[in-house]
Amino acid sequence: MFTIITGAQFGDEGKGKIVDLLAKDYDIVARFQGGNNAGHTVKVEDKVYKLHLIPSGILLEARALIGPGVVLDPGVLLEEMEMLRANGVVVSPEKLGIDAKTSIIMPYHIELDGLREAARAKKIGTTKRGIGFAYIDKVAREELRLADLADEARFLTRLEELASQKESEISALGGDPALVRDSALIKKYLQFGKKLAPYITDVSREINEALDAGKNVMAEAAQGTHLDVIHGTQKFVTSSSTIAGSACANLGVGPTRVKNVVAIVKAYITRVGEGPLPTELSGELGARLQKAGGEFGTTTGRGRRCGWFDLPLLKKAIALNGYTEIALTKLDVLSELEPVRICVGYRYKGETINYPPELTEALAECEPVYEELPGWKADLSKVQSFEELPANAQNYVKRLEELMGVPIRYISVGPGRAQTFKKEEAL
Ligand code: IMP
Repeated sequence: MFTIITGAQFGDEGKGKIVDLLAKDYDIVARFQGGNNAGHTVKVEDKVYKLHLIPSGILLEARALIGPGVVLDPGVLLEEMEMLRANGVVVSPEKLGIDAKTSIIMPYHIELDGLREAARAKKIGTTKRGIGFAYIDKVAREELRLADLADEARFLTRLEELASQKESEISALGGDPALVRDSALIKKYLQFGKKLAPYITDVSREINEALDAGKNVMAEAAQGTHLDVIHGTQKFVTSSSTIAGSACANLGVGPTRVKNVVAIVKAYITRVGEGPLPTELSGELGARLQKAGGEFGTTTGRGRRCGWFDLPLLKKAIALNGYTEIALTKLDVLSELEPVRICVGYRYKGETINYPPELTEALAECEPVYEELPGWKADLSKVQSFEELPANAQNYVKRLEELMGVPIRYISVGPGRAQTFKKEEAL
């Protein structure tokens, strides 16, 4: 069975937690795009793990794979491996594999990301982790792959080929090009290569062989649908394709293998960085959601912008991903709000529309049209089944399911592993 899990909004929907919940039924969990711009928080009993690169499946029995469509900061990965080991999690080449072709994020990519963002009159609000510049090099065929990093002679030859170009790019943006050939940095990267060499694998082959053997494989996305580099809200997007089809392309698995596509959907919406968010709540209500939901970036610590549930954006996410089921997260955060609102359409140029306009500039002009539902004043954190939810919370979930037309199968009411329950029947 091949299952793909993606975020249906702007990222930070709680993917790490749901992957962790489902991973017990999977033999392999594979990350297929993005890099350490992502941050997945998983709470296991009293321990909180913040993972940026390693799929959350590592916390269970599954083999964790990092696919060739990921851009990899080797220092960050090694730190993450150490953090897991310090917490008693086994991180061995049997548990973790990284594709030989995975692009390495070099110090010059991070430098260029920072310089370019500083020079932009209208910012994107990137995470400044070098993501975009590593992907530029992949597409320009000027990348260094993990296999190169692990082979000293090849790494040094390749770096020499690329160095003067990278130096001029940094100089052109007013930076100091010295880091490109900095011998201490090069030495450090070669050590990273040696440490990661035992983990190198062919991810596509492993996954296809596992599927042939009847095993279960889950593809885990980072970021969210509307940050997709092709279909998202350009230019306020990340540099990789975040939607379900990208899992097949990036992992080298044929689309005929896909069984389920699971959406992670937050019960409201958040966005970190710039770009339109039609239901954004400024003022007291926005601050309240941000506080109640702990809406601060796992990677950058930035406060996330918060808004009401946005159905038009969700409908587009359903179209782009072909979801078969939904995991609804953070329902507990809406407790105490009266009323609760759902954006069911937009007012745009004097008309009411129910699907987002294609261009970002037009989305920025859309005014939300709301449906109001009565709220619930109850602590949901200990709720273990749909039936235990207060009637108004049940009604909110039912209404969302009806509007989305895709069954909600999981509901989460808090950060802990136990604070999620399955909802068997579509409502
Ligand atoms: P980049 O991916 O660092 O280039 O940033 C591009 C945009 O994507 C910025 O608005 C970031 O805030 C956003 N972004 C990148 N990764 C994540 C994520 O994991 N969650 C939410 N937003 C993200």
